[in-house]
Parts: sequence; C-alpha cells; structure tokens
Amino acid sequence: MHPHNVGKMENPDAVATEGSPACGDQVTVYLKVDEDKHIIEDISFLSYGCASNIATASIITDLAKGKSLDEAKKISWRDAMEALDGLPPVKVHCSVLAADTLQTAISNYEIAHGLKEVPNFSKDTIVAELKKIIYPQVGEDIVSLKMVKYVGFADGEVLIDMNMMNFDQWRENVAEEIREHLEKYPEVKNIKINFP
Ligand code: FES
Repeated sequence: MHPHNVGKMENPDAVATEGSPACGDQVTVYLKVDEDKHIIEDISFLSYGCASNIATASIITDLAKGKSLDEAKKISWRDAMEALDGLPPVKVHCSVLAADTLQTAISNYEIAHGLKEVPNFSKDTIVAELKKIIYPQVGEDIVSLKMVKYVGFADGEVLIDMNMMNFDQWRENVAEEIREHLEKYPEVKNIKINFP
C-alpha cells in the first residue's frame, strides 16, 4: 500500500522500460549513478503492473539503493520474492519483470559509459530470455524446470524444442510468452517452437 521510490526521475543517468508480454504490464526504472564509485545513489520506478509488481519493484529499488553496480547486478527476482516473504506461483512473473527492468537499466548505464560492450545476439541470449519465463503453476522458470529440451539459432531462425505434455494447460501461454520475449530482437526473423 505504501511503495517506496515511486516516481519519474528528472535527469536520470540510465533508464529502462520492460514489459511483460503475458499481461501487457510495464515497469520503468530510473538510476542515478556516482560516476567514479559506480554506486547507485538514487533509484525510482514507475509501474503499470499489478500489486505484486509494485511491491517487488518497491523492494528491489530499496535493495539496490546505495549498492555498487556490481552488487546490484546480483539482485534477482528470487531475492525480491524472499524479501516479500513469497508470492503465489501465478504472480512470480511480476517479480521477474521488476528485477529484469533493474538489470536492463544497469546494463544500459554500463553500455552508455563504455563499461561493457553491446552483447551480440546468440543462443545464450535466447536461453537468458527463456530463464525469464515462469511456468505459472509452479512459479519457477521453464529452464530450471527442464521444460526446454533444445535451443538452436541459425539464419535468423530460432528453434526451440519443448518438453511439455500436450495436455498441459499452460502450453499455449508459455509458447506465446516465448515468442513475445524473442520477437523484440531484430536478429530474430522466425521462431519455431515444437512440442512433443
Ligand atoms: Fe502483470 Fe503482475 S505485472 S500480473
């Protein structure tokens, strides 16, 4: 009911906006970073998400404030969820959205300040995206749950073999999320998802 660090920041050093394709929600994270010490001096967020999302964004910004970029890079959705004393499985993706936006903001800062290169799109990028997709029934990502059997990428085509039974009610939902997570990359021209 009383989220911390809410609001748009004037003249931020880095910004990131991420959306969860599953529910159409969005989060924006703003950072002010000490240029010499690389410490997050200030952080705020805007959310167009549900209550779980606002709660995790609030806690994640609290956790990141005052930390170095390297420390803040280790903050995950699991930390936020733990700090909140847990979330129902169907709401775990809301915390992933908040954590992901923080990480993108840090990455945007590092790229803009020459602290890292723009990563090349590869199979690793695909796997990293798949790790952000939560199987709603369990509240764990589909990679940890071993639901992804094979990932391939060649000539702009992503090929994913899934390990989900055809009676699984979440199959379509997961497939749609995979598409929407990968479609944003200009390198991806086609996505093929196979189920057993
Ligand atoms: Fe979309 Fe929580 S952010 S349901």
